[in-house]
Amino acid sequence: MTEQGFLAGGIDTSRPHPARMYDYYLGGRDNYLVDREAAEQIIKASPAVVDSALANREFLRRTVGHLVAAGVRQFIDIGTGIPTSPNTHEIAQSAAPDARVVYVDNDPIVAAHAGARLLRASNTAFGLADMRNPRSILEHPAVNGLIDFTRPVAVMLVSVLHFVGDDEDPAGTVALLRDALPSGSHLVLSHGTADFHAHKVDEAVSVYRKSTANLSLRPYDEVLAFFDGFDLLEPGLVRVPLWHPQGPEPEPDDLRNIGIYGGVGRKP
Ligand SMILES: C[S@@+](CC[C@H](N)C(=O)[O-])C[C@H]1O[C@@H](n2cnc3c(N)ncnc32)[C@H](O)[C@@H]1O
Repeated sequence: MTEQGFLAGGIDTSRPHPARMYDYYLGGRDNYLVDREAAEQIIKASPAVVDSALANREFLRRTVGHLVAAGVRQFIDIGTGIPTSPNTHEIAQSAAPDARVVYVDNDPIVAAHAGARLLRASNTAFGLADMRNPRSILEHPAVNGLIDFTRPVAVMLVSVLHFVGDDEDPAGTVALLRDALPSGSHLVLSHGTADFHAHKVDEAVSVYRKSTANLSLRPYDEVLAFFDGFDLLEPGLVRVPLWHPQGPEPEPDDLRNIGIYGGVGRKP
């Protein structure tokens, strides 16, 4: 393994990896049989997962666009996932070429793909770190080399915090990151929930238990509490298609399959 975490050889195909399962939901090819079998098991029990993943990706795109338009030029995208275009730096830098983006993930597979596909752009870096140890993110050379913590930063926790269990202090993790940010910084958060498909999620939770990360779906109030210390921007915490939709307002039918909340908060 190199210093940034790029694989020197050997890929773990003995267990499903959430990053590779998510890649499969999105129609990507950077996954293995063990990931596809796990993902298919979940899709069979809860077909909603594919629509939710696609809607989550669109949420990421709209939130980054919104923040760049609001003047934000620095992003720390934690739980990057296997690169899938458009990535955060492509979205941000297409509107603001000087935007800086640091990607962080704890999966060496993501690091390997990031090395090949994310780091050719300028003002872009990757750090292999685990958000359950948020200090390791703040102290990572990739973060310190690119991010100026005296200026506003957007911390993106998009579809990743549900891989941090209650016993791993997810609220403390978010609070520690928040406290490192100057006023005018933002938190972009999306998070899986069982609020709408309670009877269908048991299978998903049990499949993820065999993967490299457990899945902790949370109800609305618990997700909202992660914004403690931030002012929620309009429209608040909503199912991801409802966050500043482009085009017509989603109909109830468009939301039927969506089990992910999303929102953006601003540190006063
Ligand atoms: C569902 S993907 C989300 C990818 C991307 N953020 C998005 O929303 O399109 C979750 C990612 O979080 C990463 N992840 C899971 N637990 C993590 C942790 N404790 N620290 C850092 N990354 C983590 C996984 O490796 C995976 O790449």
